[in-house]
Formats: sequence, C-alpha cells, structure tokens
Amino acid sequence: MRILIVGGGGREHAIAWKCAQSPIQPTLFVAPGNAGTASLAENVPIAATDIESLVAWVQANAIDLTVVAQDDPLALGAVDALQACGQAAFGPTQAAAKLEWSKVWSKEFMRRHGLPTAAFAVFDRWEEAAAYVKQKASMPIVLKPDGLTAGKGVFVCASRAEALQALDTIMESRAFGASGDRIVIEECLRGIEISVFAFADGTHITPLVTACDYKRAYDGDAGPNTGGMGGYSPAPFVDPETLDYIHHAIMERTITLMAQEGHPYVGVLYGQLMLTNDGPRIVEFNVRFGDPEAQLILPRLQADLVAVLQAAVAGRLPETDVTWDPAATCGVVVASGGYPGAYTTGHPIAGLDTVDDDVLLFHAGTGVADGKVVTAGGRVLIAVGQAANVPTARGRAYDNIARVAFENSYYRKDIAAREV
Ligand code: AMP
Ligand code: GLY
Repeated sequence: MRILIVGGGGREHAIAWKCAQSPIQPTLFVAPGNAGTASLAENVPIAATDIESLVAWVQANAIDLTVVAQDDPLALGAVDALQACGQAAFGPTQAAAKLEWSKVWSKEFMRRHGLPTAAFAVFDRWEEAAAYVKQKASMPIVLKPDGLTAGKGVFVCASRAEALQALDTIMESRAFGASGDRIVIEECLRGIEISVFAFADGTHITPLVTACDYKRAYDGDAGPNTGGMGGYSPAPFVDPETLDYIHHAIMERTITLMAQEGHPYVGVLYGQLMLTNDGPRIVEFNVRFGDPEAQLILPRLQADLVAVLQAAVAGRLPETDVTWDPAATCGVVVASGGYPGAYTTGHPIAGLDTVDDDVLLFHAGTGVADGKVVTAGGRVLIAVGQAANVPTARGRAYDNIARVAFENSYYRKDIAAREV
C-alpha cells in the first residue's frame, strides 16, 4: 500500500511515524516533508497548497490513500480534487472544512443547532463593528477575522480602545487580507482550555482523546500566539461525565448535523473547548489533527493508524477498535529565536543523536544542507516524553530537549508545570 501525507511539520512526521508501525507495512511519501520524515518516507518536493501538482503526482505514482493533514490544502479543496479523480483521501471536503476556514459559518452553524459556544455577533462593515464595540457594556471581548490566519488572528481585548485597535488591524489595515472582510466579535470565555480529537467517517466517531496545548510564545503565557509551543495528553483533570457530554453533545452531534446539512464529515475533528463554570464551551472547531497535539496523541493510539484511516474513508469506523493508552505524553517544542515573528534559518542542529530511546523526537522546521540537519522553520523540533503520568513524561521531555542545540534557539520552561 502506498500512502501520501500532505504537510511538512511535526504533525506530519508523527503521522508518518505511526503509519510506519502498521502491520500493513505501507510505502510512505510526505509532501513536502522535512528532515525527520525523510528517515521514514520519501519526501516529495511539492508544496502542500499546490493542489494541482499534488493530484497529478498522486495519479502518476499509484497512491492508494492521501492523508491531507494541514488546514490550508483542506480549505483549498484538496480532498474534493483528489476524489474527483477517483483517488481515496482522508480529510474533510472543502464544504465540510468550512467548520474551520470560516469562523462566521462555523459560529452560525453552532448557533443554529444550539451547540454550546460564546455569544457572538458578525459584521462586514467597520462602522457597524465599531459602533457595537463602543456600546458594549462589559470587557474583555474577542475579535476574530473570518478566515484562516495561521493561528494569529484572535484578539482578546481587555478594553474598548484595544478592541477598536484590533478592529482597525483586521478591517482597515487588513493584516489578514480577505479574511478581514468579515469579523466575529464574541464574548470572552473563562476557564481551562483543552483540545479534544476524534476520527470521523461521515456518520460515526471514535472514542475521544484529550490534550492541552500551550499557544503563547513565552513562559507564563506571555508573548504572542504561536502554532503551539508544547503540551501534554491526556488532560487528566477532565472528569468522565464531562468527557461523555463532550463526546455525545458536542463531537458526535456535530458529525450528525454536518451530515444532515449535506456536508458529511470525514477526517479528524478537533474541538477546542473552554471548560467554564457553566460547562464546556466550543472556542472553535478545527478540521485536522492539531500541531503539536498530533505528536502527543498518536503515541497513545492503540490501533493501526493506517487501518483507522482506511476505515474512516470507507465509512466503516465501527469496525475498528480505537483505544487510547492511559499512559501520558508531554512534548516541548524548541523554536527559532524570533518565532512567531522574523527568524533566521540554516543553522546546524547538534545533539540529535543524544536523545534517549524512550523519548520521541519529531521534526518540524528542519531540512538538510551539506549532509547536515539544519533549521528551516519557526518551530524546529519537539521532544515527547512518555510515562505513566504527566509529571514524569514532562521530566523526560525536558531532560532531552536540553540536549538539542542550535543558534538562537528557545523553548518554554513551563509546559505542563501546572500538573506537577
Ligand atoms: P484560535 O485561533 O481560535 O485557536 O484562538 C486562539 C486562542 O485565543 C484560543 O486558544 C483561546 O485561548 C483564545 N480565544 C479564542 N476565542 C476565545 C474566547 N471567545 N474567549 C476566550 N479566549 C478565546
Ligand atoms: N495547536 C493548535 C493547532 O494545531 O491549531
């Protein structure tokens, strides 16, 4: 069996790593991949967003299954384009992926079905949005442009002045381009945030797995939002009743409703939830594995990932037996100094072969130059510790990430600290 994974980050390295353990023994390809995926798979030099070239390559290379792991090719309709040529693809269609790529559509979907989420209003004109902000009695409020923003588009504003500033950034300076044509302004949710994942086959979902992601760049949740600087799985503080509610009333119900609305959802459904005093609230849905959450949850998957992906595409998930290892993982990302802003690349990475056997090292922004592994992106590597509980897994991750070094690197020192 020949599988193509579309993407080039730590998430795609983790997916390739898990597929490589399948008894099916697939031949793996990753487009475009990184220095880590090159050790498990053949990297294909096609950008994840170049849908036309990807489809042509899949047809020319007798690929049996394409796994579209990244948000932008899903939003561009990669799955639709593959299916139109008779190719099997894991991931939601463009219409189903709207759950992530249009915040307006997603919030209206939640509202029309009474799914628990923050109260919100939508504006397509600056004047009306500004008038709404000015008359708002209580702060903070949250402003979000409609479209994809690489995780950088959410403004949690403590004051009216700050909200008006954010409004200018989105709608006047158009920092996010056409994503700023419309804006969602919503209530600020308070509580602990968790990420929840399930595989979906259009009708059914698997048992859920939880994780916690650290989005801010610096310790103490200071600094700008990033793609994610580390995290852990499971979120041990979520009680079984709450998890059961999230499973049935949020995740499974969403899959049922998507099918009823004519957009059956196949892929990984990622619920980002705030556990508030009034119960779980949906912050947003994503239509793929999280990054770094994939690197935290796939080591805990007690099933053949290839069989699960095939079953999802065939609408036969109930025939699989997906369970999650009760043991914990904790991952710490080492990033290029300056990320998520400007940073330099091409720095040789030392210490890669000093990592202990029980710790997983997934590559993200890495490449090869003159036979050496060098930095090639903002988030460079993640070390994932595995142990009976989160504090021990955390210790394993930190012991090992400290051995990996490159010029101007940084990592957070407080990932999972609240579990210790
Ligand atoms: P997103 O890009 O939607 O994942 O949002 C980035 C981060 O902004 C989330 O992880 C939350 O921490 C925060 N956020 C988004 N929406 C809200 C909200 N309504 N209330 C509080 N925090 C929010
Ligand atoms: N870790 C957050 C995301 O993948 O969107």
